[in-house]
Amino acid sequence: FNIPEPINEPVKSYAPGSPERSELQAMLKEFRAQQVDVPMYIGSEEVRTGNKKPMNPPHDHQHLLGHFHEGDASHVEQAINSAMGAKHAWESMEWEQRAAIFLKAADLLAGPYRAKINAATMLGQSKNAFQAEIDAACEFIDFLRFNVKYMVEIYSQQPPVSGNGVWNRVEQRPLEGFVFALTPFNFTAIAGNLPTSAALMGNTVVWKPAHTQIYSANILMQVFKEAGVPDGVINLIYVDGPTTGKIIFNHPDFAGIHFTGSTGVFQHIWKTIGENIFKYKSYPRIVGETGGKDFVIAHKSANPKAVAVGLSRGAFEYQGQKCSAASRAYIPSNMWAEVKKYLLEDLASMKMGPTEDFTNFINAVIDEKAFDKISNYISEAKKADGVEIISGGNFDKSKGYFIEPTVIVTQDPMYTTMCEEIFGPVLTIYVYQAEHFEEALELVDQTSPYALTGAVFSQDRYAIELATKKLRNAAGNFYINDKPTGAVVGQQPFGGARASGTNDKAGSMINLLRWVSPRTIKETF
Ligand code: SER
Repeated sequence: FNIPEPINEPVKSYAPGSPERSELQAMLKEFRAQQVDVPMYIGSEEVRTGNKKPMNPPHDHQHLLGHFHEGDASHVEQAINSAMGAKHAWESMEWEQRAAIFLKAADLLAGPYRAKINAATMLGQSKNAFQAEIDAACEFIDFLRFNVKYMVEIYSQQPPVSGNGVWNRVEQRPLEGFVFALTPFNFTAIAGNLPTSAALMGNTVVWKPAHTQIYSANILMQVFKEAGVPDGVINLIYVDGPTTGKIIFNHPDFAGIHFTGSTGVFQHIWKTIGENIFKYKSYPRIVGETGGKDFVIAHKSANPKAVAVGLSRGAFEYQGQKCSAASRAYIPSNMWAEVKKYLLEDLASMKMGPTEDFTNFINAVIDEKAFDKISNYISEAKKADGVEIISGGNFDKSKGYFIEPTVIVTQDPMYTTMCEEIFGPVLTIYVYQAEHFEEALELVDQTSPYALTGAVFSQDRYAIELATKKLRNAAGNFYINDKPTGAVVGQQPFGGARASGTNDKAGSMINLLRWVSPRTIKETF
């Protein structure tokens, strides 16, 4: 097998005066001046239903970026038929051809489409330039390139043993049916990875993005078309959840779901699939990455400045809307004053505003529903006993959905915001008695049903070992002396267990193995 060894796409700095910055600024301006008309993509058709829904920047919700055309039940049916129709030709194609298509998609994103996908993510999802670059450009490029490597590893696994006169072999078939990709707003890379990873392994896909990500999904679809993804292999539809679910999960050819989103939706889907299990040809593959209540715990030996930076970056990058974001912290009493000082200094330097101004670190949360939910937690905290807001606490949705990075300190380690997923720029801190590290570890483990990411900060090898052991099941991605966000494809395979998902590590061979159904062949001569 002869494929290029992938390396992680270098992250561009967008420093003042850099060519990439000028190009991105020009693209933002161009996109702002246009109003796009975004169709669904079913087979070879661009489908415009006339049922147009607006797309607005979360940080400037009166501005119109354009419209997308919403579909109905008939479009879900058409997308399934299109996926099933494209299946035979796609799975019969040589794997090299499929690899070449997705490697080309990676190159298009790295080159001519880089400014476009970043600008779309900045405007449509309110990510700042750097957050867009590490997501929509670098992470998705990495997913595409590394997945090709993992695909090759799967196809080149050691064959089983064969005795004399016998040839045993294993064939990695795609699933029998279509795959449904249901994707989130918060990472353009994840939205792109969920359909393409299944497609790479020879499956055809119905893809339904979050309505708040359609603006950048439309660009991804253009990249896939230009890279040579054949018509019908990835079908992009915008139909409401209940209508889509009713058709997909009742279909005999439904072969698997690749999901990232909320725990509640995933559990509902799982239950629906269970109720319909007699209708399917095969047991569907259920692969999902869901919620988190990700933690940072510091030991008394930790470096207070490193802890503070881990908190401010881990909790507030992309307004805390990462499933990996730090949202509860356990800080020992001996260093709280120092951590607090550095944390407040760091937060004071974070400017909030629209993404088009590159000096803004904090932008808007995704939509009004998110704004109302997050701000409600803050309003409740203002009234609660034993709870203090030490930074932020203000919010305003008059122009955009802006919420200040908010730090709550609680005397009760089981206070609501220590336990529930908020998915916004809210960090809650509990200060524990520095001598009681082991009890604090118990708290970390017991407080939440989730187990996605977590971090321990310590300079003491024994404390690191203790935390690593005690928190074995508390996080699928565990960081020692680093923030719990920013997993890099090919370096830290990503995913969580417990209520956080099926832990089929995005950006790994484990994930791709879910999209094949091996056949063992024994031939006797
Ligand atoms: N992979 C992202 C991170 O690690 C979250 O989805 O931050």
